[in-house]
Amino acid sequence: MSAATAKPGAAAAGKRIPPGEIHQSFLAYRGFRFLKWGIWLCLATILAYALHRPLTAPNGGTWLGYTLGTIGAALILWLMWFGMRKRSYGRIGRLQGWLSAHVYLGLALIVVATLHTGFEFGLNIHTLAYALMMAVIASGAFGMIVYAAVPEQMTRNRHGATVSDLMAKIAALDGDMRQAALGLDDRQAGLVLAAMNQVAIGGSAWRQLSGTRPNCATRLALRRITAADAVPEQRAQAQRVLGLLGERLEYLDVISRDLRYKALMDIWLYLHVPLSFALLAALTAHVVAVFFYF
Ligand code: HEM
Repeated sequence: MSAATAKPGAAAAGKRIPPGEIHQSFLAYRGFRFLKWGIWLCLATILAYALHRPLTAPNGGTWLGYTLGTIGAALILWLMWFGMRKRSYGRIGRLQGWLSAHVYLGLALIVVATLHTGFEFGLNIHTLAYALMMAVIASGAFGMIVYAAVPEQMTRNRHGATVSDLMAKIAALDGDMRQAALGLDDRQAGLVLAAMNQVAIGGSAWRQLSGTRPNCATRLALRRITAADAVPEQRAQAQRVLGLLGERLEYLDVISRDLRYKALMDIWLYLHVPLSFALLAALTAHVVAVFFYF
């Protein structure tokens, strides 16, 4: 089963693109069509910049500066429009095309905008707009890598099972463990009970991202219960409980890793989208400053 089980109509319903459905293929969409477009755009920009002979040092105010600035601003508006646009697509195929264009033309923006500046940077609103743009692009590049790599790792991690399947397996193990713990002494039975009573997985965003469970009662029980400590008539039961605890821990680890992958897929958008809006505001201020104050 795919890492993301959302249905194709989910995009049309206003959800995020199900990463399992877009992974890898959006990068190679139609024989890397948009990668080629991005490369052509970069080459044309570099060539124009190399041939350009302005009277002053190259900057955003020459005819080429204005041209590249207009292309860059148009690209930014189009890239932002993607967020709204993707919500109106029912077909994943077309959505992949838009995402592919978003990624490659977004990356080409680095060349277009940098040459638009003519490398004139300072402590001003213009450079702030540029810095925000680079931050949006960097977060997007991180998201692209996550989307391309993580869904496959998620599928491999869960071996095709869903999180509910794994929770059901843990519940079944707990039933067996409750029985087996009856044959243990009070200390060991207490450790087993504590493990079974601890159901919470996940926690804070940081905890989910790190994928760690420092106070895992199952791990603690595994460490503290040893068959050798048990009196001879309890040894077989202790051994059985240890086997069940080991299995429980494996399932818990799989779920923790799954949550970690999901958190990774989400976290970057918390930067990408707000930074995009900050960029839009800075871009507007930049354009207003250029046209009204110069
Ligand atoms: C200035 C440039 C950029 C702007 C303004 C921008 C803006 C946006 C916006 C508004 C969204 C929609 C998010 C949502 O509503 O869920 C989005 C999605 C996305 N962006 Fe960008 N982006 C830019 C550049 C990039 C770059 C360079 C990359 C990759 C290298 C990238 C990767 C992505 C990806 C993978 C998504 C899809 C997220 C999803 O649907 O779950 N972006 N971007």
